[in-house]
Amino acid sequence: MSTNTMKAVFINEQGGVDKLIYREDVPIPTVSPDAVLVKNRVVGVNYIDTYLRSGLYPVSLPFTLGKEGAGDIVQVGSNVKNFKVGDRVVYLGASAYADYSSVSEAAVEKLSDDITYEQGASIGIQALTAWTMVRDGYKVQKGDTILVHAAAGGVGLLLCQMAHHLGATVIGTVSTDEKAELARENGADHTIVYTRENWVERVNEITNGLGCHAVLDGVGKSTFQDSLSSTRRLGTLISFGNASGAVPPIAITCLTAKNLKLMRPQLFNYLATREESQKWWGEVFDLLKKKVIRLHVHKVYDLKDAKQAHIDIESRKTTGKLLIRL
Ligand SMILES: NC(=O)c1ccc[n+]([C@@H]2O[C@H](COP(=O)([O-])OP(=O)(O)OC[C@H]3O[C@@H](n4cnc5c(N)ncnc54)[C@H](OP(=O)(O)O)[C@@H]3O)[C@@H](O)[C@H]2O)c1
Repeated sequence: MSTNTMKAVFINEQGGVDKLIYREDVPIPTVSPDAVLVKNRVVGVNYIDTYLRSGLYPVSLPFTLGKEGAGDIVQVGSNVKNFKVGDRVVYLGASAYADYSSVSEAAVEKLSDDITYEQGASIGIQALTAWTMVRDGYKVQKGDTILVHAAAGGVGLLLCQMAHHLGATVIGTVSTDEKAELARENGADHTIVYTRENWVERVNEITNGLGCHAVLDGVGKSTFQDSLSSTRRLGTLISFGNASGAVPPIAITCLTAKNLKLMRPQLFNYLATREESQKWWGEVFDLLKKKVIRLHVHKVYDLKDAKQAHIDIESRKTTGKLLIRL
């Protein structure tokens, strides 16, 4: 590897895990006036990476994977005001499966010394998604009953912790008994193994037939209709992901019978301005420092094993966060 090249994982076409290409001779990105160059230390693996690889979400090719990372600034663009070389930072949105990422200044936040790179890369997409959901998508109140699907996953464990902290009764659905135990350790009051139990009936029993104040559904296609049934009158269904496939188009009148609210958020729209970014990152850093959220790292991979990380997250065998160390 020469000094102008780096290791990176990218795709030239979308498809299965075999489309992921690992190379050690990729040019280090150049930095535009409004961007910084980050030497990545730890980057996050997220379910969205699989959508961008598979073709569920569109990308411009070639495309370097990775939507979040933590590392050190090694170069700043001429217009950059808020950062300097040597700053420890976290960021969202850039091509992170690489030694170096060029990141717009607007997408970067400083990392205080008491937060490790590993923690920084773990709380980006998943904790911000979970926190924006329980504070804005549906403002969880003490006494609410909240249903969290895939409760032992990356976003799921954090949702259980946060909703529990806000005083809700949390029902978590999971695919195995081991995941159920982990969800309970992280704040789920009730767990349902939805691969073998009739989870709609169980939710009905637990809520005395009323349903949940909010259903937080990142599973998508296989759960959406039953999530609607499990939401109480005047309740909120947040459909925030497609782990089982995209939710097919729906008739808006499906909301009428119970005056339901339906939301389909995307994290990046919560962080469109510098003020918004600082607000949400600041709150999540605070949750970590106060130990309201506890990170559960499933595994740390080498960059050359990114393919295995994708196989693992898609296999439903992982819990919590998957990371790549550079
Ligand atoms: N809208 C946003 O801005 C945003 C941001 C971040 C994440 N998300 C979404 O949040 C969801 C969770 O993301 P994550 O990164 O934390 O992943 P994750 O929850 O750690 O992994 C996905 C989980 O989904 C469950 N699942 C159910 N059916 C599945 C199927 N057919 N194939 C694979 N998995 C299935 C599995 O848990 P069980 O085995 O327990 O069923 C699996 O472990 C994803 O849908 C992701 O796209 C959305």
